[in-house]
Amino acid sequence: MSVLSGKKVLLGITAGIAAYKTASLVRLFIKLGAEVQVIMTPASKDFITPLTLSTLSKRPVHSAFYEKEEENELWNNHVALGLWADIMLVAPATANTLSKMTNGVCDNLLLATYLSAKCPVYFAPAMDLDMYIHPATKNNLEKLQSFGNRMIPATSGELASGLVGEGRMAEPEEIVAFIQNDLLDQLPLKGKKLLMTAGPTYEAIDPVRFIGNHSSGKMGYAIAETAANLGAEVVLISGPSNEEIQHALIKRIDVQSAEEMYFAVHKHFGSCDIAILSAAVADYKPKKVATQKIKKEEATLEITLEKTKDILASLGKLKEDQFLVGFALETDHELENARAKLQRKNLDLIVLNSLQDRGAGFATNTNKITIIDAALNVKPFDLKSKAAVAVDILNEIIAKLAL
Ligand code: CTP
Repeated sequence: MSVLSGKKVLLGITAGIAAYKTASLVRLFIKLGAEVQVIMTPASKDFITPLTLSTLSKRPVHSAFYEKEEENELWNNHVALGLWADIMLVAPATANTLSKMTNGVCDNLLLATYLSAKCPVYFAPAMDLDMYIHPATKNNLEKLQSFGNRMIPATSGELASGLVGEGRMAEPEEIVAFIQNDLLDQLPLKGKKLLMTAGPTYEAIDPVRFIGNHSSGKMGYAIAETAANLGAEVVLISGPSNEEIQHALIKRIDVQSAEEMYFAVHKHFGSCDIAILSAAVADYKPKKVATQKIKKEEATLEITLEKTKDILASLGKLKEDQFLVGFALETDHELENARAKLQRKNLDLIVLNSLQDRGAGFATNTNKITIIDAALNVKPFDLKSKAAVAVDILNEIIAKLAL
């Protein structure tokens, strides 16, 4: 999934010949899952039609403060547009518009929206080479960047004038890649390695039977996906689960038993920054696994169980700089049990689920959690979707790590 998926993009188009390329730009953003609102300066309509852009963006294109629609006059609220956006891109950005943006001139809708926007603003200059290197333009480009705007530099090549040199607007693919990389760099978990466990474990009785539990893996998978969307490189060690996950930053390792999970986790723990163990690991496993299918010969059958290795507790003993998070699923004396677990297993945070809460626990799409930190501060959360709970858990970790 692209970092641009679900993002609201304001695309400001000004009057340069490169405006014809904005049709491709809109398509690229839409293909990556972004919403695009186009704002044009009046003169830019000589270079590309609003109809083309509104068809591709699936939204009306704005270019004036007031628009006549039938008998009604509609006011295009530049403040609302500026607040709506997650990012604003001015492309092509002509020397004229760049100069106005630098000086706070506000004589069209695009400029008023730029002044109102609180989101990151990108601009892709496009002009002839002598205009691009003119001290006035250079000064404007520097000033605009000093305000926190991000420049997508013009490239070198043949220009509309026939001259060859710097000033050509970056290609739509380059613009989109620039913005994607820039957004990725700003993600709070960028460069962090997260180790996760999720799902149940299956402890074999014989070649066809096992002891398992009802864990679906939904909570752990939601955390893995959210963390990857926040820039983390995730190793997801999963017990048997029907959940599916596709993300360039997630490496999924499938295991069956607690023993397999233990070894997979230990292989990756040394190199991780954060470990979140959400798996419902079996506490006991059959002492002996029958090599052949057990036949139903006797009236009763006894299976002797022995303890599995406690993966989380073993990490608590090994931990150096890693931030270690465990889960506790409790039915009674919830806070007391969870606090004791946090201390016994040497955790930085524990996420408590109470089976007393409706909508919490296994197999549901919702969860209700309470987070307890190492200083034993208790923070209860409302019932939410597991995706929203994942965001709460990761925000808490990000705040603790002061990322
Ligand atoms: N856990 C683990 N390995 C185990 C058992 C549990 O890593 N063999 C982890 C779980 O992933 C979870 C936490 O420990 O993060 C809580 O598990 P739980 O079974 O509730 O804790 P226990 O200490 O075993 O306590 P009890 O079963 O007595 O409630």
